Amino acid sequence: MSTAPIEPLLPSAELHLHIEGTLEPELIFELADRNGITLPYADLEELRSRYEFTDLQSFLDLYYSNMDVLRTEADFADMTRAYLRRAAAAGVRHVEMMVDPQAHLLRGVPLADCINGVAGVLATSLEDYGISTELIAAFLRDRPAAEAEEVLARLIESKAPIAAVGLDSAEMGYPPEGFIQLYRMAREAGLKCVAHAGEEGPSHYIEQALDLLLVDRIDHGLRCLDDSELVERLVRDQVPLTLCPFSNVRLRSVDTLADHPLPQMLARGLNVSVNSDDPAYFGGYVDDIFAQLRQTFDLTPDQLAKLAANSVEASFAQPDRKAELLDLIRNWRRAQD
Ligand code: ADE
Ligand code: ZN
Repeated sequence: MSTAPIEPLLPSAELHLHIEGTLEPELIFELADRNGITLPYADLEELRSRYEFTDLQSFLDLYYSNMDVLRTEADFADMTRAYLRRAAAAGVRHVEMMVDPQAHLLRGVPLADCINGVAGVLATSLEDYGISTELIAAFLRDRPAAEAEEVLARLIESKAPIAAVGLDSAEMGYPPEGFIQLYRMAREAGLKCVAHAGEEGPSHYIEQALDLLLVDRIDHGLRCLDDSELVERLVRDQVPLTLCPFSNVRLRSVDTLADHPLPQMLARGLNVSVNSDDPAYFGGYVDDIFAQLRQTFDLTPDQLAKLAANSVEASFAQPDRKAELLDLIRNWRRAQD
């Protein structure tokens, strides 16, 4: 389906993005070649044929398998540059990017190579791409909490340039309550806290993330709709929910984009934003998502501007940067008249 782009580009912040989920098939082959790795796919076409998912786990299997091509600091840096280039073309002006250090450590990649590769590029992202950035270390909820705590201790000890911690990977059966100590450590180190909750998992995982992990934002949060009292609370407290509509379609949380509850969530007063999650896997970057949402739901300029402003306000950007970005969004809105 061809969708007209939004013109001029809608400026926004991307708050829910896994950098490993931006590895495009071409880059996977390029890095495999560079590192002397034989991929289990003959060519790009065969790799692309695997991008059909039935649920979160079926995606995670491919996501973890493909990240095996990331071996050196330069690999992490090239992946990060490729994303920032594409994000700039999508109108993204601020990114809070997750990286999965544990997943790389488990493959034998030194922590410093992963963190320095990504963070080295982020250090000059504003000058190089016009995008301010923050790095979030995400921990794998389907691994032991003690392992995550050890990795976080190493990140803190080495003064890794991270702004926040996150919680990702397979959700069902791995509730937030297992990670209370991890989040306590993060808060004591002055870090912000986010967690995936209510992507596939039940609505009470969202409550646990708020009450036990004291998170600043919920990644996804879609399943809050199963509990009207929780929705009331999320509206009252304006808890940011970083929605990822393409991801929800591709991982079968909703049947089609037209079935996505984003317009109802916006109308209900929930603090929702639009994000790409793993754009190389789910069919598009933030500009593609905004364009398809606009077409599917006939979103007005006010609704689009509200989604973009929510993303900026829910970010961990400095107040002056937030003001600058909100100004850009107001100018975009005026240009639509
Ligand atoms: N890791 C990368 N993408 C993810 C997602 N959509 N949910 C949970 N963990 C992830
Ligand atoms: Zn995610």
